[in-house]
Amino acid sequence: MNCPFLSLKKIGLYALITLFFNSVFAQKIVNLPHVGAKSIKNHSFSNYQQVYHYKMDVALTVDFDEQILKGTVVYHLKRNGLSERSKSAKMAKNIRKTPTILNPELNENKVIFDTKGLVIKSVMGNDGLLNWGYGDSNEILGKALEIDVTEHDTLIQIEYRTLNAKELKQMGSGFISAIQWLNPGQTHDKNNPFMFSQSQAILARTWIPCMDVPEVKFTYNAQVFYPNNLNAVMSAQRFNSLPEFLQKYPLKHGEFQHFRKEIKISGSNAPAKYTVAYFYQSLPISSYLMAIAVGDFKEKRLSENCLVYAEPGLLEKAAWEFVDLPKMIDSASALYGKYAWKEYNVLVLPPSFPFGGMENPVVTFATPTIITGDRSLVSLLAHELAHSWSGNLVTNATWDDFWLNEGFTVYFESRIMEKLYGKDYAQMLAVLGMGELKKTLKDLMEIAPADTRLKLDLKGRNPDDGLTDIAYEKGRFFLVWCEQVMGRKLFDQFLNQYFKKHAFATNKTELFVIELTAFYEKNVKNGKLTKIDFNKNVKSWVYDIGFKEPIIVSAYLTEAESLSAQLNSLDHQNMIFAEESGLKLKNVTRSWTTHHYLHFLRNLDSLSFANMRFLDSIFHFSMTMNSEIAFDWCMLSIKSKYTPTYPFIKEFLNRVGRRKFVLPIYDFLIQEGQKRAQFWMKANNTNSFDMPKIPELKLAFDAYETARDGYHSVTRNSIDGLFQFDEWKK
Ligand code: BES
Ligand code: ZN
Repeated sequence: MNCPFLSLKKIGLYALITLFFNSVFAQKIVNLPHVGAKSIKNHSFSNYQQVYHYKMDVALTVDFDEQILKGTVVYHLKRNGLSERSKSAKMAKNIRKTPTILNPELNENKVIFDTKGLVIKSVMGNDGLLNWGYGDSNEILGKALEIDVTEHDTLIQIEYRTLNAKELKQMGSGFISAIQWLNPGQTHDKNNPFMFSQSQAILARTWIPCMDVPEVKFTYNAQVFYPNNLNAVMSAQRFNSLPEFLQKYPLKHGEFQHFRKEIKISGSNAPAKYTVAYFYQSLPISSYLMAIAVGDFKEKRLSENCLVYAEPGLLEKAAWEFVDLPKMIDSASALYGKYAWKEYNVLVLPPSFPFGGMENPVVTFATPTIITGDRSLVSLLAHELAHSWSGNLVTNATWDDFWLNEGFTVYFESRIMEKLYGKDYAQMLAVLGMGELKKTLKDLMEIAPADTRLKLDLKGRNPDDGLTDIAYEKGRFFLVWCEQVMGRKLFDQFLNQYFKKHAFATNKTELFVIELTAFYEKNVKNGKLTKIDFNKNVKSWVYDIGFKEPIIVSAYLTEAESLSAQLNSLDHQNMIFAEESGLKLKNVTRSWTTHHYLHFLRNLDSLSFANMRFLDSIFHFSMTMNSEIAFDWCMLSIKSKYTPTYPFIKEFLNRVGRRKFVLPIYDFLIQEGQKRAQFWMKANNTNSFDMPKIPELKLAFDAYETARDGYHSVTRNSIDGLFQFDEWKK
């Protein structure tokens, strides 16, 4: 094969240059014995079973010149197994002389944090510098930061910084960081830089040393220094000044270590170009919910406890789009209990945000691609809001239980949507969800059938592998099944007590199954339910591969479905839509919303060039700014080899960095390109080809060449994986 893939060679090269920086920068490294691979549980190196942080005092500077976060964090520690011995130790006079009270076999004389790509400057305990070093490491989990402590150390302070751009480059293309630094050109208004985090699932450790495992929950306060002209948020309540903060939360003895120290800094020593904001998260959260964003965004209030943040040029549009948020909060609270997090705000991020939304407490992060001008994609906000209960209050104990977060949330989201917009609307969304689930099931049954179970086994894998429609949609339809068996009233009763019972804690699938079954049986006993083999069914939903999809229909979507069928059958007979039918089509679709178009496009087979051209002339899909519709149009165009859409696809891939859109497009382009290349080589009796002859490959490469640098590393890393050409060359 000729080698037109210069750009890819570059990517390959990045992967080879993997340097480990931390050891270079470490100031006080001692050789500590390794903890051993057996302790790698739940995607964390930390020894949280022995000791964990229940509170953090964070002081961070957001340095856009260097593109780093730097500062200190004070961790307040609690020991699990030591309470009795601690008491007797405290009674002993000379506490400092009793370090043997810690059991080294249980790792009690160490505190182990997760880190990835952090430069640790110093580690202090209650009485000064502590010995520390790196333990186990691996590409997915990062490095264990092991700190020698004595029982006396109830506080640890770590001074550190994140890697700068040069160091990140040297880490290699496979390095994924939560933080993305954007230059002004990558923002909506194009005037100022922007940075944001995306910590879920295990990326909090790339910007803050922590026990990066959902079971460790902690509160935090923070002071963040950021450039004067910008704005800052964290997953916490925000205060503009220290007095404002202290008025609400007066300092208690031993708390807010940093505030005491940094008051001085922010007074006379603060660099002139920095502003400081204060944050307080008084409710315990898991590390994956730690979040920070700094950029030029302003706020617009929607209600007493709800506001929208967006870049100035997008703020009005965003506020208009999200106007129903206060109603959503009320509906959700009426369903499953009081909203716990005081405020519910949404920050609209630049288009490279790798997800649709992220449920960071107090401030959901959202992609700008849901701003369509017709409020048709606001179910995403219902989803992120629902996580305030399912996820942020009751959290999956491990990433194997991810469906407890997402399945519950999709179910809950659907209930919110039903309350606001009616049963038919919610049913329409369910039918679309089922369509996606069917596709996922089909694919996974071929490549990874075990991943179609709700309870996953992600040991040794990236928790990202669990991010499929199984957790979301199979999870949801399981809960819909529960609702049908128990009736809505009883099931809601169960959910209410479930959220109450496990609030601020975590839950495992196994425990959920036990509790659900017990609830069911109690209600059989008291005559409210008739007996079926409930537990067997539940176990099958949770632990079996695949599942028999229930047939569900939506009256809203039948029209779109029948139009797709008509067009498919015409196309099969090599017939072209005539002008008159175009008019008819326009009439029929006059009242269509985003979802009708999605259903219509998803149900189309590959179409002839003429029919694709016809469709585009009627609907102007190739000009749409609605990214959901754009995505489905791109996929249909690739399926149909309709090359006039290809420039649009290239532009779309460069404009949007949401992984859900861009990854499948690259994947499909490469798959279809491969097929075309093989066909071409056979026809020409050769085993090489020229790139320009294969439009799908050319498009994938050209687009990625320019778009790659702008993607968040989460997105970039997934796509890099697609460009592995060695296999298919054969
Ligand atoms: N918490 C997820 C996003 C996530 C999950 C990020 C796991 C990283 C790892 C969020 O709530 C979510 O589900 N977002 C969806 C939107 C939703 C409407 C299905 C997304 O980003 O597409
Ligand atoms: Zn979610």
